[in-house]
Amino acid sequence: MAETPPAKTVALEDRKQSGGKLYAPSSARNAGPIRDILAPRLIEGARVVEIGCGTGEHAEAVCMARPDISWLPSDLDDAARASASARAREIAGLQDAVEIDASTDGWETGPGTADALVCCNVIHISPWVVAEGLAKGAETLVARGGLVFLYGPFLEGAATAPSNLAFDVSLKQRNPQWGVRSLDAVTGLFERHSFALEERIEMPSNNLSLVFRRPE
Ligand SMILES: C[S@@+](CC[C@H](N)C(=O)[O-])C[C@H]1O[C@@H](n2cnc3c(N)ncnc32)[C@H](O)[C@@H]1O
Repeated sequence: MAETPPAKTVALEDRKQSGGKLYAPSSARNAGPIRDILAPRLIEGARVVEIGCGTGEHAEAVCMARPDISWLPSDLDDAARASASARAREIAGLQDAVEIDASTDGWETGPGTADALVCCNVIHISPWVVAEGLAKGAETLVARGGLVFLYGPFLEGAATAPSNLAFDVSLKQRNPQWGVRSLDAVTGLFERHSFALEERIEMPSNNLSLVFRRPE
């Protein structure tokens, strides 16, 4: 059986650093599109929890568009948390990042209650148990009527973009437990935890934004 590298990691790209903040090339491309989808879907004064915040650029973009919300970023990775926390010192509503491993039982008890749980580009670059932990935790964390927002590439059977199939192969070569997830599998997982897929939004570079809603 293949040896599996430790679960911690996880930047697939070279990130630049300035003033304590990290900058990822992918975030320069997708922070605006993600902000434009997510910001209008958050309720007034929304409490947002983010899993796998990375550099914190998505949090910054949405908080700048929605100064009424509070956003708690989290990550496994020390450098990511330091970067998001550096942004928190400059952006209203953005809190210092906390350490959360979404694969651990009970992670959701730390942040308390949320109106939205956000997770971008994590579930394909981590074992499936992370997606399972995310959905399980969301069932307790997210208030009735609240949402889970996922962003990233997904497999959609014959309709899957060739670039996402190639990405799936390269992820599995890096770690056999990683891989682009099937939209059906992810939807089924969240359905088993009381969330319905409300919106599937096509994003640049064959990514999707998915909005799952917990019924009132
Ligand atoms: C590819 S990066 C994405 C970062 C950012 N969300 C973005 O879209 O640019 C994946 C992030 O997930 C985090 N991560 C990996 N496994 C995790 C886990 N089990 N729980 C929480 N975060 C995790 C990594 O530390 C990393 O920052």
